[in-house]
Amino acid sequence: MASWDPQQYNRFAEERARPFRELVARIPTTQAVAVVDLGCGPGTMTATLAERWSDAAVLGIDSSPDMIVAASERQTAQLRFQLGDAGQWRPQRGSVDVIVANASLQWVDDHETLLPAWAAGLDDGGTLAFQVPVSTFDPGFGGIAARPRWAGLLGGAAGAIGPRSATPVLPAAEYVRLLSAAGLTVDAWETTYYHVLPGDDPVFEWFKGTGLRPYLDALSGDDREEFTAEVRQELRRGYPREPFGTILPFPRLFVVGHRA
Ligand SMILES: C[S@@+](CC[C@H](N)C(=O)[O-])C[C@H]1O[C@@H](n2cnc3c(N)ncnc32)[C@H](O)[C@@H]1O
Repeated sequence: MASWDPQQYNRFAEERARPFRELVARIPTTQAVAVVDLGCGPGTMTATLAERWSDAAVLGIDSSPDMIVAASERQTAQLRFQLGDAGQWRPQRGSVDVIVANASLQWVDDHETLLPAWAAGLDDGGTLAFQVPVSTFDPGFGGIAARPRWAGLLGGAAGAIGPRSATPVLPAAEYVRLLSAAGLTVDAWETTYYHVLPGDDPVFEWFKGTGLRPYLDALSGDDREEFTAEVRQELRRGYPREPFGTILPFPRLFVVGHRA
């Protein structure tokens, strides 16, 4: 599995934290015994779950060893971190009060199977909350990866963000149907954040830590440099630098399912 770099990820920590906060703010669960954060990354935001549900055992799970090493620095008696694949995680029926997956489900396949299994793990009063880039969002590199020059070399590498074929994310209404059928009351919405990013090539730097990783990891040497140059140029064209910074409009889908 391609490696994640906690430092690169944390370069835009404040911009990435906001959707997490806005997602968690809509969780109606007041009392919790067990809280799980799937794809917890460096654990910074998982720690805020431990503050909100201060009586609960909070578990962060991530498939990246580097992320888990970074997160483990925050470990306490209440807050624990574990290496694991969210796609394989199956809670026992009624065993969890809050399940959060912020900006991680776009890396995990087969939401049609996964989400009903997670919903079944919720106790009465429990909530499943996740946030993903909207399924149609392609910052530009998805199109480049699909060009004949790159498609063969990139093989099956998929960026989690990009053309529909490259992301497992479903349209919003599909999630509403899926979780309603699983017995949850669903609150879903989409928001576009207009991030203003500082510095040179900030959109490339943003996605280098996330959506571009699978493509970059699939290439080496001159190919990697050429692909990088093409993507940089495309992102500069698509997101021009302005006197105050570079605007990155980032559309995100939020889904909160509550078991009454
Ligand atoms: C964009 S980061 C989000 C981190 C954190 N949730 C946050 O809001 O800051 C995506 C995280 O998902 C993790 N991830 C990707 N695929 C995963 C999987 N199959 N199981 C668990 N974690 C996964 C990555 O390692 C990475 O830490």
